[in-house]
Amino acid sequence: MASETEVKIRASVTKALNTSAALHRKLKNPFRKHMFLTGIHEPMTEELSLDHLEVSGDIPDAINGTYARIGPNPFNPDPRGHHWFVGDGMVHGIRLSSGRAEWYHNRYIRARTLETKGGPPAAEGPRRGARDTVNTNVLKLGGRTLALVESGPFPFELDSNLDTVQSTDLNGTLTRPFSAHPHEDPISGEWHAITYEPETQDTVWHVCLSKAGEVISERPISVADGPSIHECSLTEDYIIVFDLPVTLSMAVLAQGFHFPFRWNARHAARVGLLPRRGTVEEIIWCDVDPCYVFHVANSFQNTDGSVSIDCCAYESMFAHGPDGPNGVPCGFERWHVDPEKRRVTRAAIDPSAQEFPRIDERRFGQSYRHAWVVSQPREAVSNFVAENALYHHDLETGEKRRHDFGPDQVGGEFVFIPRAPDADEADGWLMGLVIDARNDSTQLQFFGALDIEKGPVGAVHIPHRIPPGFHGNWIPD
Ligand SMILES: [Fe+2]
Repeated sequence: MASETEVKIRASVTKALNTSAALHRKLKNPFRKHMFLTGIHEPMTEELSLDHLEVSGDIPDAINGTYARIGPNPFNPDPRGHHWFVGDGMVHGIRLSSGRAEWYHNRYIRARTLETKGGPPAAEGPRRGARDTVNTNVLKLGGRTLALVESGPFPFELDSNLDTVQSTDLNGTLTRPFSAHPHEDPISGEWHAITYEPETQDTVWHVCLSKAGEVISERPISVADGPSIHECSLTEDYIIVFDLPVTLSMAVLAQGFHFPFRWNARHAARVGLLPRRGTVEEIIWCDVDPCYVFHVANSFQNTDGSVSIDCCAYESMFAHGPDGPNGVPCGFERWHVDPEKRRVTRAAIDPSAQEFPRIDERRFGQSYRHAWVVSQPREAVSNFVAENALYHHDLETGEKRRHDFGPDQVGGEFVFIPRAPDADEADGWLMGLVIDARNDSTQLQFFGALDIEKGPVGAVHIPHRIPPGFHGNWIPD
């Protein structure tokens, strides 16, 4: 508990920072063409409800439910201090039933931040602090469809039409920051997340949730410098903590940039193996070469007690400009974590630039064979999207299959849907959005997960450009 003096000091520092930030923003160019507000990233200005969409090819009859994907869609965008990661959240969804595409909806997440800018009225529900923008992931957790973000705000609950119901503290059980990437342990049904907030630089939290979607525990983990931790992972015995050299920068905040995290070469990179059934003091920190990771495909324990982590890594992150993610991609890697030597060894699975790794989630935290990833630009500074390809990595044979989306086609994250609950690993389909940058339209494309090189088996045609976003998931009926 902070003392009265600490509270007063923090309040006066925050006020001084906010004053400085506002002043610096006023001095920036309001007409600058920000790369994440223009071109393919230009936000949508309307909420649409389109019924009976055109379908080509075959959408498997077994697929009944809603594909939902979220991303930033800034309302009344202002380029001054803007960063891709801070835009107002908008969820897009396509409702599928018996091979038909019944509807497309896009909806702003009804945050107070959005209402303040002149947007639609905010939803009811509790808030954590002044920032409540949620824009990074949407998934089903404990029977609720939740829109999520890292770094502090509570989740928002959505209804089956993707309209915002309320912000939620999960029946009063969530008191600490949450994450955009909680992971379900498919064996226990419990969910785990590593969470942080910029207001607290010496602590991150391991948040564990029940199958019903209520918090069971929020365990503090000591860190330094306020690291930004986007993702976590898990194995049978550990939760994996990525304490990497992207940390809070007060100087950047004071300069009026809304996203205050930057590459920090002085912050030692390390991976923590947090025992699932021990205390936080027993965490095993293992040194790793400086790098950054947004996303993990999977992790698992080996018979010798070591841990393998498959992830997409970067040489650095947020070191080359204030507008969005940047840094030279290192490709898809397998990390070997030796808890005895307390050291991580990195090896390339495929050094070509790629992001958004997904697997058959029924294998999460366990040994597995198949991962799907999309390629991305290699340049350190770009708008993060380009004509690209879908990759399938068979980690048993080392084979890499690919499907090129084609000229001016920009694919986002692809999610795996099993053919049946008890189907073998990778027996099922992939689905994800592909933007046609030539005519400003979008397709929700479907692939056979084990033969992507044959091209899509079917597609739903959406007659407008859905701006590139972050994560999507299948929400079955
Ligand atoms: Fe993410």
